[in-house]
Amino acid sequence: MAEHKRENFSSKLGIIMATAGSALGLGNIYRFPCEAGANGGGAFLIVYLVVALLIGTPLMISEFVIGRRSKSNPVGAFRRLAGKKTVWPAVGFLGVLCAFLILAFYTTVAGWTLGYLGKSVAGHFSGQNLEQIQSQFVSFTNHPWLPIVCQLLFLILTAFVVARGVKDGIERYSKILMPLLLVIMVVLCVKSLTLNGAADGLKFFFNPDFSKLNGRVLIGALGQSFFSLSIGMGALITYGSYISKDDNMTTSAVSVVLADTFVAVLAGVIIFPAAFTFGIQPEAGASLAFTTLPMVFQQMTGGYFFCLIFFLLLVIATLTSTISLLEVIVAAMTEELKITRTKAAVIGSLVTAVIGVFATLSFREGSALHISGRTVFDLLDHITASYFMPIGGLLIVLFVGWRMKRADLLDEMTNGGRLKVGVNKVIAFIIRYIAPVAIAVIFVSQLVG
Ligand code: TRP
Repeated sequence: MAEHKRENFSSKLGIIMATAGSALGLGNIYRFPCEAGANGGGAFLIVYLVVALLIGTPLMISEFVIGRRSKSNPVGAFRRLAGKKTVWPAVGFLGVLCAFLILAFYTTVAGWTLGYLGKSVAGHFSGQNLEQIQSQFVSFTNHPWLPIVCQLLFLILTAFVVARGVKDGIERYSKILMPLLLVIMVVLCVKSLTLNGAADGLKFFFNPDFSKLNGRVLIGALGQSFFSLSIGMGALITYGSYISKDDNMTTSAVSVVLADTFVAVLAGVIIFPAAFTFGIQPEAGASLAFTTLPMVFQQMTGGYFFCLIFFLLLVIATLTSTISLLEVIVAAMTEELKITRTKAAVIGSLVTAVIGVFATLSFREGSALHISGRTVFDLLDHITASYFMPIGGLLIVLFVGWRMKRADLLDEMTNGGRLKVGVNKVIAFIIRYIAPVAIAVIFVSQLVG
């Protein structure tokens, strides 16, 4: 039986670190400041916090519940819990498709982190001024082959770890490296707060201007929180299926949400003060993280080493995220198509590479790879964060809140009654009533503007 071969995470810390490994990544350090910058700063932050805590946490728990109860990949999970003859397994398919699309554009930026690690080893930033650092970003992303080679290398690294499996691969790396990343970010934060533009940057980031609130900001915050927490497409159904029967999933989920939110806010506190200090527009988009951070390192004693360690850890944080995305694909392929992990990892990353190269190429200046005014890169990001994940998340909470029996849900959350039911009842209520309405309202608000 295939079930006997399924692996589990080996400890509570392992679960939290692997899930945090999935959650923490470019979404926090690269995408969050981009979104906050483009959507007015403070107002975005507040909506983001509310959405991440109020919708994100129950949705994460819902995914864990589906995963652990079914002990299966997202496609198999819905089949087992809802039955073959229903449409629910389609939600799992949607998730696997979404994993391909996210991985395709995510590895573009993941490749940049590798490139920037190389640059920091070579000391390319020392003694450079803002213009030079900005033009390094432009010439790197426009280089004829370097970004593609970096992207493919990143995919190979990901496939390598995923092929090794859950405990030896995913869990082991996450456990050591996530805490290290946190430490270096706190150091960066302290430095950033001593810069001249710190007050302006903090004002931009923390002062909410609610006149900026509109449907776009709402869906931006919803999409960002789903993206950042890795929810709404089955990644955490997959990880949930490796959680042991004894784990308190509620506390695991809450820990991950808090850690993820903390790192996103920390990234904002590092990047916006620095951006205002060096005169970089907060809505600078793609280049924001890749120009402000090297500039901060410039100002620090020992900047060379901090820069090096930072990009090394960023590569690793990104890797633990790409691993979780590829794991969705690999778990589905091994269990549904009965092929080996290695084969699934190779096929999965080859397909991703084919789409991903277009995302990377579309980033170049003057690239013809535009669809309805967006680059392929932006388009993949936009359709996954604004459509796939909100719809997937909505269907997941509807499934857990309405299709599953409430008794089964509480049974799963309390490990068969061994844990206190208290707060879990509140969460079950949010899953059933509040989360679906909130997601639906935000989703519709973007359609009407
Ligand atoms: N959460 C990761 C980040 O913030 C990216 C990621 C990993 C992801 N797995 C995911 C996003 C699944 C959506 C769905 O960088």
